[in-house]
Amino acid sequence: SYTPNSFVETSVAELKEKLGNDKVVLGLSGGVDSSVAALLIHKAIGKNLYCIFVDNGLLRKNEYQQVLESYQGLGLNVIGVDASQRFYAALKGLTDPEAKRKAIGKTFIEVFDDEAHKISDVKWLGQGTIYPDIIESVSVKGPSVTIKSHHNVGGLPDFMKLKIVEPLKTLFKDGVRLVGKSMEMPQHILGRHPFPGPGLGIRILGEVTAEKVEILQNVDDIFISGLKEKGLYDSIWQAGAMLLPVQSVGVMGDERTYESVVALRAVTSVDGMTADWAHLPYEFLGEVSNNIINKVRGVNRVVYDISSKPPATIEWE
Ligand code: XMP
Repeated sequence: SYTPNSFVETSVAELKEKLGNDKVVLGLSGGVDSSVAALLIHKAIGKNLYCIFVDNGLLRKNEYQQVLESYQGLGLNVIGVDASQRFYAALKGLTDPEAKRKAIGKTFIEVFDDEAHKISDVKWLGQGTIYPDIIESVSVKGPSVTIKSHHNVGGLPDFMKLKIVEPLKTLFKDGVRLVGKSMEMPQHILGRHPFPGPGLGIRILGEVTAEKVEILQNVDDIFISGLKEKGLYDSIWQAGAMLLPVQSVGVMGDERTYESVVALRAVTSVDGMTADWAHLPYEFLGEVSNNIINKVRGVNRVVYDISSKPPATIEWE
């Protein structure tokens, strides 16, 4: 009968057969799908799998370092690329959400292509595509930094001419998690909330700057750590914070402040297509709000988003 273990066994055998001694390059995102795909391919071909993990400067606080370390801990052959400045330069002056997505996607392609060129004789591009990606029910907002959605970026980069290997394409998300679990992937990777490819770039409304990224990383970190500490993280589909392009008046000691507003968003969902705002305890929201305003300079007001999808979306951009 079908079990995650038998899926792993069968897939590894098929991958060995298909890939032989060929080299494969794969872009890791830090998310569940690309991580499980990488581990499966790694089980089959070991060091011939070259993983590339790009820091686009739009990840969560300390995420680049932590994710890189956990991949290395799993024995993956992973190349980390800190390309933050390239992404910030590409985003300079852009305020339109779709223009920002495009700039992020295009920069990702360029960075990935540069790195892929450094590996000689690559034959395959590995991808963490899952079944819902194929039926196109997931990202409805436009191009993400998943590689396949960028066929329109002006000439095909070389890595896109590679043969494609997608070991998870028959699975749904829960299946991917079970397969990951049977390969002993750590829970902190398996249980991760979904995170958009353009990252904090679409949670900073308006122009993205390094300073705003730092503010939002600190806000997000307080919120997400709080959810984890209070045991709320696993019951939520996705959570995060938006930095609004709005200043409001506040008071700190005897001083009048005029600083940014952040919106916290947490939703429950089964597939991201529809979502309900998470009914988080008031005490928890109050504590998180206090922490944010006291600890993050530049923010003096916190609001909680109580819109459901539809008609609102999960992200604000
Ligand atoms: P929305 O905001 O459309 O989001 O309700 C649904 C899910 O998709 C994620 N999302 C994206 N993921 N690139 C991605 O890789 C994107 O451009 C993008 N936009 C939204 C969002 O985080 C949620 O999980």
